[in-house]
This record gives sequence, structure tokens and C-alpha cells, in this order.
Amino acid sequence: MFFLLLFILLIGFIVFYAGGTNTVWPHLMYLPIIFASFLFRKTGGIITCIVAGIILGPLMPLNVELGLTQSTYAWVLRLLIFTGIGVFSGSLFKMNDKTVKKVKLLQAQTLKTFVSLLALRLQQTEDHCERVAYNALVLGKEIGLSGNELKDLYWAGILHDLGKLTISEEILLKPSQLNETEFQEIKKHPIVGAQIIMSVSEEYQKVTEGIITHHEKWDGTGYPYGIRGQEISIYGRILAVVDVFEALCKERPYHKARSEEEALAIIQAGKGTHFDPLMVEKFLKIYNEGRIIVNSSIPALYWRKTKKAIKRKKLQ
Ligand SMILES: [Fe+2]
Repeated sequence: MFFLLLFILLIGFIVFYAGGTNTVWPHLMYLPIIFASFLFRKTGGIITCIVAGIILGPLMPLNVELGLTQSTYAWVLRLLIFTGIGVFSGSLFKMNDKTVKKVKLLQAQTLKTFVSLLALRLQQTEDHCERVAYNALVLGKEIGLSGNELKDLYWAGILHDLGKLTISEEILLKPSQLNETEFQEIKKHPIVGAQIIMSVSEEYQKVTEGIITHHEKWDGTGYPYGIRGQEISIYGRILAVVDVFEALCKERPYHKARSEEEALAIIQAGKGTHFDPLMVEKFLKIYNEGRIIVNSSIPALYWRKTKKAIKRKKLQ
């Protein structure tokens, strides 16, 4: 705001030293007006217009050299024109805001539809995906991720297995050990899931990083790329721990549910090989503090509500 005022004053000086308001220089004032409308929308635009109109108003000569003053009619009319432009451009920017908001909402609804489809396909409840996302958020917050990072982590968590939509039910629900061909098929799901998300919007770049890397392992023996350590996205390292813990504690076609103690022992054993050691330490800490959800469902864990919860620090 201060720089904007400085900009307006500078234009006022330019107009004065260029000879007055009968030159072309007053038109420069449209720049700060449009800029203010962009920054502060209609209200900011109107205030800037009034300030600009007054600076080029009663005290600004029509012709400095001849000492001619402006008529009241001229400067008031200019002020009104400025205000009209401020209102108009502010409204345009506001319309653009609404459109962007609608597009983002539509994208979020598309992702949410994917979650429902995935739950049906995997014959799980949506609670499974939501628990992974919720626990990932708690762990993400514990390691100091910020608002936008948590938002990306949430979507990566809830959609981490989206690529399984393209895998046949025979493989997904096979009650016995997968053979090599079937396992090769399963190994495609992180990349397929990421491709689907990227087709919704390229803004989900970070989300796709989490999805692609959620089966990578700290020692480089994971898939799909076999990357190791810090090469793995932080979202992927978080999801690896919470997803494995969730999967271990639940009944699956290919294994029985383990107790929480057994699942924690497996997580602990994978520290530094399967999992990022820091993530394991933090996960155990938040588990012992009772902040990890295991069997209970999360009421309406939709990002908008989660965001409010984070703001209210309910996830701490
Ligand atoms: Fe997966």
C-alpha cells in the first residue's frame, strides 16, 4: 500500500513537472489504479482512484507555465472516470477470483470422486484412504510441514493407491502370494495414479510426487524407480510409514490383521531400510501420544474441514 501511494505521488510529480494536466501524463495514473484493483479488488481500486483523483485534482495546475488552474468540473470528472475504471477492473479481477475458485472446487470434487471409486474397487471403505491421509497429516505436521504442503500431502494420502483402479480384481483381491507377472502389474500403480492426477491439473505436481514414491524404500529396494534416502519425496516417505501401518492393522485378502504392537514392531524393524528413520521416530512418538487413528473413522475428513482443523490446531 505504501509503495502504491509512493507510485501515485511520483506520477503526480511527473504530471506537475511535465507541465500540468493538459499534457498526456495524467493517463499514467491508470497504472496504479489497475494495479490496486488487482491487489485489493474493488474497494482498493476505489480508494486508489479517489487518492489519484485528488492528487491530480484541485492543487494540480492545468498549465504550470501559464499558471492556469483546472475547473472543478474537469478534475471531478477525471476523479469519477478514475473511479469507474477502478470499479470495473476490480470487478473483472473479482470475477476471475470466482472462476478460479469454481475450477479448484471442481478439481477437488473430481479427486473426491476418485476416492469413492477407489474405495469401491478395493472393496474397502473410504475410511481406509481417509485414515492414511489423516495420519499422514498428523505426521506431516509433526515434522513441520506448512499449510500448502499439508494440503498436497492430504491429497497424496487419500489418493495414493488411485492407480489400482486399472488393475484387475483377480490380482487386487488374490488371497495368496502374487506371482512375478502379477507383482509387475501391481508395481505400475504409483505411476498410473500420478498420471491420472496430473491429467486433472498440473497444479498437483507435489501430490503426484507423493503418489509415485509411496512404495519407494529408504535403502533403494522399493518401486517403481528404486530411488533411495532423500531422493524420495518427503510425502512418499511419510506415506510409506502410515500406509504400511494402516495395511498391517487391517484384514487383507492376503493377510490377517495384525495387532497394533506387531505392526509397530514391523515399522520399527524397517527403520533405515524400508522407512526414513526420522519418519519412524516421529511416527512412534505421535502414536505413543495417542494421535494416530487406527480403527476409528474420521468424521467428514474433507480437505476444507481438515484445513479448518489444522488452523484450529486440532491435529496437534
Ligand atoms: Fe500403493
